[in-house]
Parts: sequence; C-alpha cells; structure tokens
Amino acid sequence: MPLFVTCAQGVEKLLCDELAEIGFKEVSTGFRGVHVRDDSMEAIYKINYCSRLGGRVLLPLAQFRCYDQKSLYFEVSKIEWHRYLRKGQSLAIDANVHHPLLRNSLFAAQLTKDAICDQLRERSGWRPDVDLKDPDLQLNLFIHEQRASLSFDTSGSPLYKRGYRQDAGPAPIQESLAAALLRMAGYQGSEVLLDPCCGSGTLLIEAALIASKTPPGYLRKKWGFMAHPDYALQEWLKVKNDADDQRQEIQEGHFFGCEIDTEVARICRDNLRAAGFHRQVEILRKDFNDYIPNDKVNFLISNPPHGKRLSEIEDLKQLYRSLGNLMKRKMTKPSRGFIFTGSSELAKEIGLATKRRHVVSNSGIDSRLLEFDLY
Ligand SMILES: C[S@@+](CC[C@H](N)C(=O)[O-])C[C@H]1O[C@@H](n2cnc3c(N)ncnc32)[C@H](O)[C@@H]1O
Repeated sequence: MPLFVTCAQGVEKLLCDELAEIGFKEVSTGFRGVHVRDDSMEAIYKINYCSRLGGRVLLPLAQFRCYDQKSLYFEVSKIEWHRYLRKGQSLAIDANVHHPLLRNSLFAAQLTKDAICDQLRERSGWRPDVDLKDPDLQLNLFIHEQRASLSFDTSGSPLYKRGYRQDAGPAPIQESLAAALLRMAGYQGSEVLLDPCCGSGTLLIEAALIASKTPPGYLRKKWGFMAHPDYALQEWLKVKNDADDQRQEIQEGHFFGCEIDTEVARICRDNLRAAGFHRQVEILRKDFNDYIPNDKVNFLISNPPHGKRLSEIEDLKQLYRSLGNLMKRKMTKPSRGFIFTGSSELAKEIGLATKRRHVVSNSGIDSRLLEFDLY
C-alpha cells in the first residue's frame, strides 16, 4: 500500500513535483494529497523532514470496504495492535468520514478506538489512554462512501508546524501553504524579495528556508514515525544529516517586509529570530505606502488582508489600489509580483493585467494567487 502525503486542495500537482525532486518518482495525485509508491522507513523519514508542501505522511495499515459500524469494528480488530502500542502508551484518532450509516467522524473514531482498546484488553489485560494533544500513536481514519483506510500518521503533529512560529498576527497563512505559493510563483531562492504586508512573516521565513536550503523540519524535535516499531535512530539520523549538509548561508539584503502594526511587527521579528533569520530579513514597521523598495527588489509576494463583510471589502479597496501602484510605479523593472487573496472583488482594484491565476484553498476559502509581470 503506497504512502499518502496530504496537502491543501489545489496543491496536489505541485506536491508531486516536489516529491519527485526529493527523489520519489512513482507518485500520483489523489484527493487532497499524493500517493507515493514507496513505504520504506527511509521514504517516511525523508518526506517528513524535507517536504515543504506536505501536511501529513500517512502509512496505511489497512484498506477495506466499510459497509457499516460492524464491518468497521471487525476490520480494525484484525490489526495486531500490540505491534503499535505498548503498555502505558496513548493514542489519538483523526477521522474524516463520509458514510451514510456512520453518523459522523467523531462516532467512527470512537468505534475505532473501542475496537483497539477491546482487542488489547482481551489479549494483554490493559487498554491505552486517549491523548488528543500529544499521543504516542496518531492514527488517521478516512472513509469515503464505502472505501476505508486506516493509517499510521507518521508525522504526528502536522508538518506545517515547523517550530518557528512563536505567535501570529491576524489571519496568518499556514506555513506549508506559504511554501506552496512560493513554489507556484517559481521562487528560486536567488531573487530579492519584498512582502509589503508581511504580518507574522510566514512568506518571508518560508522563502528564507528555501533560499538557505534548510529542511522544513529542521527545528522540529518529534515526528509520529519515532513511535513506529521499525523506527531506527541511525537510519533516521543519516537522512537528517544528509539533508542538513545541503544548508547554505543566505546573503543579507535579499529579504524585506513591511508591517504597519507595531505588535504584529514584533511578532514577526520574534518568529524570524526563532527561525534563525533575524539578521538576514529586514522588517520595516511602517505602511508600505511610505516605503520605496531599493532597485534590487525584483520579486514581490504578499497576502494582504481580504476582509469578509461588504463594509470591510469597501475599506480595503484603497489598499489593493496602493499595492497595484507599488508594483507599477515603485518596483524595478523587470520584476514579478504575486498577490494571494480570497477576494476577487478586491483583486480587480489592483489595476494591472493578470498574467496567470492559480486557485488554491486557504482554510476552506477558495483563494487565488495572482501573477503580474512588471516591465
Ligand atoms: C493577512 S495578514 C498577512 C499574514 C501573513 N501572510 C502571515 O502569515 O502572518 C495582512 C497584514 O498586512 C498588514 N497591513 C495592512 N495594511 C498595511 C499597510 N498599508 N502597510 C503594511 N502592512 C499592512 C496587517 O497589519 C496584517 O498584519
């Protein structure tokens, strides 16, 4: 059974390309994820450590037809759970279930947990506790119509939790989505980049991670695979050290961010410090309207506020016009510009011809990365 690497909707093709670059050629897109025809522990270590776009790396333990509650309980009971759980260990089950006879995801997760606990109690005389925050074993149950798959979540906490986010400003973008946007934009790591509405700095930090070839998992300490019975410390360290050896210094003067809010700018600096880039990334606590980028800046990417209510959208129109002016009048030519927004109405205010539009889901909101050629 191939591994399944989850991702945001709209990112599947990019994730395929990324996984091929990391070294996995047998990949195919699925619903919100990518199948990888390699379930070795080495593949699991590598994807968890090196994929910037992936959400979770799921190792299927069983795939089966699920007709009703009984068949779910029966199929889960067929797995030898003492292989994955030792006395005193805890578990959590993340479920995503669409089935006419299973009331909801929570109910299906409960049933799965009961099947596991009953088996262990009958055979070994103990039962695991449920720990939703920091379980030893994280499982993933996915049922669509009658097709079910129960997987060992080898990531544990999702991969977007890189370990540098100390705090966030309003509407932060998820780290793996920021990396996906940079990939969509064709960011190579050598451009001089500006985020004029940088918030807590996610796009800047992900860009700096790419430019310095720092693995996205560099600051993390824990993954789900560390609880797998086949986990081998030396093999894992080899994968980690090989990836870490690729790291390189980034030059100063390549990353700039503006943030109008004093508190958010402070959060951004804290996040940069945690990521180790506070010297290389310059954050200006100011309105981008009062900023003239230096003539080396040739790549703008930003996720400005986009508002939900009609009145908010009205208030933000001027901000989008100003972003258009910044790209038209103040940027060196030729340059490239990218604006990520959930509002097509506001996008029109930018006033520049869009070269391309990439549709991506941002926490369930259909959003667009708009690309502009500035010449
Ligand atoms: C949607 S948030 C950006 C989130 C960011 N991508 C992150 O991951 O944290 C937009 C940010 O733009 C800032 N902002 C709004 N108007 C601005 C302006 N004129 N100049 C600079 N920053 C501005 C807001 O304070 C807010 O922090």
